[in-house]
Amino acid sequence: MANSAFLLYPLLFAAFVLNCHGSQEERKLHIVYMGERPEGELSVASTHHSMLANVLGSASSARESLVYSYGRSINGFAARLSNKEVEKLSEMKGVISVFPNQILKLHTTRSWDFMGFSKGKLGSAIEGDVIVGLIDTGAWPESKSFSDEDMTPPPAKWKGTCTGANFTCNNKLIGGRYYNSDGYYDEKDFKSPRDSLGHGTHTASTAAGREVPGASYYGLANGMARGGVPYARIAVYKVCWETGCSGADVLAAFDDAIADGVDVISVSLGSDFPLPYFHDPIAIGSFHAMKRGILTSNSAGNSGPYPYSVSNFAPWTLTVAASTIDRKFIAKAVLGNGQIFDGLSINSFELSGTTYPLIWGGDAANFSAGSNREISRYCLTGSMNSIKVAGKIVFCETLWDGSGILLANGVGTIMADSSVTDYAFSYPLPATLISSEDGQRVLEYIRTTENPTATILFGETWEDYMAPYVVSFSSRGPNPITPDILKPDITAPGVDILAAWSPVAGPSIYGEDTRSVDFNIISGTSMSCPHASGAAAYVKAAHPDWSPAAIKSALMTTAHIMDTNKNDDLEFAYGSGHINPEQAVDPGLVYDASEADYIDFLCKQGYNSTLSLITGDNSSTCSSTELGRGWNLNYPSFQLGVEDGQSIDAVFNRTVTNVGSPNSTYTLFAYFPSTLTVSVEPSTLSFSAIGEKQSFTVTVKGSPITQQSIASGAITWKDGVHSVRSPIVIYNILPGTIYSSYSTPEKKPNFKGSTIYHKNGILGHN
Ligand SMILES: *[C@@H]1O[C@H](CO)[C@@H](O)[C@H](O)[C@H]1NC(C)=O
Ligand SMILES: *[C@@H]1O[C@H](CO)[C@@H](O)[C@H](O)[C@H]1NC(C)=O
Ligand SMILES: *[C@@H]1O[C@H](CO)[C@@H](O)[C@H](O)[C@H]1NC(C)=O
Ligand SMILES: *[C@@H]1O[C@H](CO)[C@@H](O)[C@H](O)[C@H]1NC(C)=O
Ligand SMILES: *[C@@H]1O[C@H](CO)[C@@H](O)[C@H](O)[C@H]1NC(C)=O
Ligand SMILES: *[C@@H]1O[C@H](CO)[C@@H](O)[C@H](O)[C@H]1NC(C)=O
Repeated sequence: MANSAFLLYPLLFAAFVLNCHGSQEERKLHIVYMGERPEGELSVASTHHSMLANVLGSASSARESLVYSYGRSINGFAARLSNKEVEKLSEMKGVISVFPNQILKLHTTRSWDFMGFSKGKLGSAIEGDVIVGLIDTGAWPESKSFSDEDMTPPPAKWKGTCTGANFTCNNKLIGGRYYNSDGYYDEKDFKSPRDSLGHGTHTASTAAGREVPGASYYGLANGMARGGVPYARIAVYKVCWETGCSGADVLAAFDDAIADGVDVISVSLGSDFPLPYFHDPIAIGSFHAMKRGILTSNSAGNSGPYPYSVSNFAPWTLTVAASTIDRKFIAKAVLGNGQIFDGLSINSFELSGTTYPLIWGGDAANFSAGSNREISRYCLTGSMNSIKVAGKIVFCETLWDGSGILLANGVGTIMADSSVTDYAFSYPLPATLISSEDGQRVLEYIRTTENPTATILFGETWEDYMAPYVVSFSSRGPNPITPDILKPDITAPGVDILAAWSPVAGPSIYGEDTRSVDFNIISGTSMSCPHASGAAAYVKAAHPDWSPAAIKSALMTTAHIMDTNKNDDLEFAYGSGHINPEQAVDPGLVYDASEADYIDFLCKQGYNSTLSLITGDNSSTCSSTELGRGWNLNYPSFQLGVEDGQSIDAVFNRTVTNVGSPNSTYTLFAYFPSTLTVSVEPSTLSFSAIGEKQSFTVTVKGSPITQQSIASGAITWKDGVHSVRSPIVIYNILPGTIYSSYSTPEKKPNFKGSTIYHKNGILGHN
């Protein structure tokens, strides 16, 4: 049977297939990455051009082949190259990596309140100094979420611009650029940063949208819509089109956003399989952003709940999982016999209690369309007979987008499917989704009743007492490339989120839905990422001089502890826990890291000869040839991957910086399963000044852990005011699942259906 969650994929993050330039089979778009922009060099573009001319044999073919010359923040270019030309370029001086362009995928009201962050306390002037850059599908500039009423002109540091016809910036939406190396425009695409897909308008307004009272989706989720930092500025970099998001465009957007002067970059898209750090445009772009003091916040991906599915896992970025908020959307299906089923659906259609004849999809096949009972029972698009379906409610045996019934003039559909139970979709007609079990009851009613009838009630919002838990689709760790860095880092609301929308983008999961809305409710790590970006912007506004690592540390160590009973895969689902923006501005201590720390990390991962290019500093080489584990990076969480039969024996070194009270003494609290022996030296840290640093070591020992298990606990430094918590995760690496930084992935693990992680006597609470 069809995996309907996969088929509904386009809704969550516009999955598109690239239509590459078929005519020039042998020359494909590649990115040639050359590291940091050389200082003072006026024309990197001419260097790129002559390199290309050298390889392609003439200046004119170089001109033809060149797609981008990156040179504002990053050094490199994108060009169409044959395999031979790729080889030649890879060997040229100054080249770090040459990799094929990839097509990446796009991965409120209540949500900010749910996080205990009802209103920022910093004030409009302080927030107004912060600029959030979004690399996404653009924005709808006329949305009320982007109104600049009462806002002052952008801060002087802003160097960006607003490009494209009929796209006007203001003091809120201060920048807009668009990138389309493909050169192909669908008829729905605007040749400007204007958003035709809705996704970018949703993410931008979630991160930093203005307060809009009375926002709702057809009356559902009615309330005040707003972003995390309503007075911060927004700059949009449109890289995603009807056909997808090209890596070459993503890198161009980073190159500009960094030079334009943004403070936080929000990226809700990514690759479906793990890429080595310097073959991944998002990892490269975010590395150069980090060098300039800009934190990049990323979506973890929507490929969960399978292990090793997390994407965007570079240690210099924040990787955000998606969890529920305390609201769920229910639409009741009522049968003629009085039976009521609470279905999961964002149902915006009012049938006013009128009942309609109810039929089973299997009884309404359109045989002349090649359909039969075995197809039409699922009500797939084009499979239904409109004579049988018109004016009726149809019971269907899978989750689908409703188009099968809509196009056959049906009134509505009751779908049965137990594969999606923790988030809701909206549909282009009255529809609801019930469990397969309840579906059997509906089928029995239809079979045993002479004139079965049903109705579907208007959507309701219910309180979800289980919230927050990480939603099924959110991608899970472990980290597929660096086993000793825990990813995702944190979780944030990403389920059924109301935010602004593009009025030309259909609101439901049916792509051809022609209705127009200003606000829409959707789910994805694409939605949780901008919550974290907004929170990061809030911390940045409060502490303009904090490094990206300090901001990230503040968000992670202050996170709410997640209930270990609600997610079997524990930290691999939620990292340090649930984001807590209000507390993040006052973390007490931070685990800071500079570019040099990341360089040291990269050295231990086997990067050396190319490092001086990446950093733009010709003296940065590795001090030792020793390859090492990534665990000594001064990261705000701790992780150790051990192999089968290997004893647990690790010493983690960490340094914390005091950002709380000048005079403070922190005492250690630790919670661990009894199978581990953990010692922390020293166990108190005393500070007498802001900015003072103190180091400690954490030694973890234990007997080998059984296959596919995880043992986790946490250490927390407390001074009576602050609580600085870091999870420690020890797990068994499945052979063949970790890719070395240089190899391409051979095997993509997929453990669907197997029981994955045992809880190993975890005491996760403090
Ligand atoms: C600008 O775009 C909006 C939205 O598509 C449209 O309504 C308006 O007519 C356009 N204006 C011009 C001058 O093209
Ligand atoms: C059956 O399918 C064909 C082909 O799609 C279509 O033209 C026809 O209208 C359909 N018939 C009914 C009764 O829906
Ligand atoms: C390294 O950089 C310095 C300063 O930019 C420059 O003077 C020197 O020539 C460079 N050395 C090499 C080997 O490129
Ligand atoms: C790193 O690369 C540089 C330049 O290629 C080389 O001089 C140095 O010895 C290398 N260091 C190590 C530790 O391999
Ligand atoms: C960690 O700290 C210990 C004690 O300070 C020190 O002996 C050791 O060399 C450090 N290890 C690393 C990798 O920095
Ligand atoms: C911190 O403590 C020291 C020694 O007790 C004292 O001299 C100093 O004034 C204190 N500083 C603050 C800011 O409280």
